Amino acid sequence: MANVIVIGTQWGDEGKGKITDLLSRSADVVVRYQGGINAGHTIVVNEQVFKLHLIPSGILYPQTDCIIASGTVVDPEILLQELEQLRKVGVSTDRLFIAETAHVTMPYHRLIDKAAEELRAEHKIGTTGRGIGPTYTDKSERIGIRIIDLMDTDLLRKRLKWAVEQKNIILERLYNLPPLDPQEVIDKYIGYAEQLRPYVVDASLKIDEAIRKRLNILFEGAQGTLLDLDHGTYPYVTSSNPVAGGACIGAGVGPTMIDRIIGVAKAYTTRVGEGPFPTELKEEIGAHLGDRGAEFGTTTGRKRRCGWFDGVIGRYAVRINGLDCLAITKLDILDELEEIKVCTAYELDGQIIRDFPSDARAFARCVPIYETLSGWQQSTADCKELSDLPSAARDYLKFLADLMEVPIAIISLGASRGQTIIVEDPIHGPKRGLLSATF
Ligand code: GDP
Ligand code: IMO
Ligand code: MG
Repeated sequence: MANVIVIGTQWGDEGKGKITDLLSRSADVVVRYQGGINAGHTIVVNEQVFKLHLIPSGILYPQTDCIIASGTVVDPEILLQELEQLRKVGVSTDRLFIAETAHVTMPYHRLIDKAAEELRAEHKIGTTGRGIGPTYTDKSERIGIRIIDLMDTDLLRKRLKWAVEQKNIILERLYNLPPLDPQEVIDKYIGYAEQLRPYVVDASLKIDEAIRKRLNILFEGAQGTLLDLDHGTYPYVTSSNPVAGGACIGAGVGPTMIDRIIGVAKAYTTRVGEGPFPTELKEEIGAHLGDRGAEFGTTTGRKRRCGWFDGVIGRYAVRINGLDCLAITKLDILDELEEIKVCTAYELDGQIIRDFPSDARAFARCVPIYETLSGWQQSTADCKELSDLPSAARDYLKFLADLMEVPIAIISLGASRGQTIIVEDPIHGPKRGLLSATF
């Protein structure tokens, strides 16, 4: 038995969906613990592409229970669409469970998210516009509506009438938008509640049952370390805790129950939305990475900003998450480059620093210091073993592992399941501090 957390080490879109799907083969339960439909996790199986926003990436395996846990925010409309799409292609959704204590994203959350962004003008965050921030705001303000509230029709009528009336004041007076019709929202959400009812459980209890049975549980992070509300590049972050610690809070399990933490990192860096990004490449090479890597947001279709691998944030992710090992994805996207740079330190106000500055304003002033490595200029897409990789590609991976002082367990060379090299057993192999000499 092993309970494993899979998290993003950068600004999201590292390929968590692919890695979670891969590891779900031997998982009994897969849990999403934070975030909402701002996430977009892509899984490719036999050329069929699945884009999941809320449903855990274990859903494609018939034996796996999938739990949307308490720390997530659930948009019923999109969740029901996602369920329908999966059923249409023959994927069973009978083993999906939704935490009764998860908060619900309402239409006013989406409207407020978009209107607030507009009002922020040049200070905008570049949110996905999916109502995530406003849903978590209501949660922490203790006025949110939870899945359990949806299940009690009389209570829901009262709570939603009050909530819509309150939000209408904000919509009309602050944002100059037309008000919502409370009755329309109530009728819609009563309908959604009936469709979701069969899936609703006490998620923490369900996870505890799995722990007691010594089943294998995978906790799937959404977003990434640098988008974490507490530890990311605030204010250019999301409103939840994608870091490994967030899994315990969001899922309702104790830290002693976690056996392993796997970080997913792209072989370069991307970011979608606003905020500082020291290794960003605004010209030719950035465009090349974006084109080759098809770097467009899974949720919003926005172009992702691209840049070199940043070892400073890599080391930060190892520390903040207590990573045991790494999965490096999209190595194949670097195949054509003559040389590849890796940021190993920053220059900040005339000083060289190797640790991520916790003050985002200082981070915005950091200038990357690069080490240049040779490219391999040949395709890696069909490599099946480490020994199939060109030696320059192995050198690149060794450089990253040494820089971050953490073993690389998985190398991904394409979107499909088969385009993966397992270097070490990601669950039981060497841990942080016990570097293997594989490369
Ligand atoms: P997530 O949000 O972390 O799950 O990542 P996304 O699904 O948003 O973005 C990753 C994209 O890269 C998806 O389109 C994946 O299908 C694709 N992908 C994942 N791993 C690889 C890889 O190793 N090589 C290539 N070329 N594409 C990959
Ligand atoms: P996955 O799980 C990449 C970014 C948005 C914006 C910031 C805040 O697919 O890796 P929000 O809508 O959450 O309030 O937006 O966070 N963002 C993501 N970027 N991948 C994601 O998810 C993201 N989810 C949110 O672009 O900069
Ligand atoms: Mg994504």
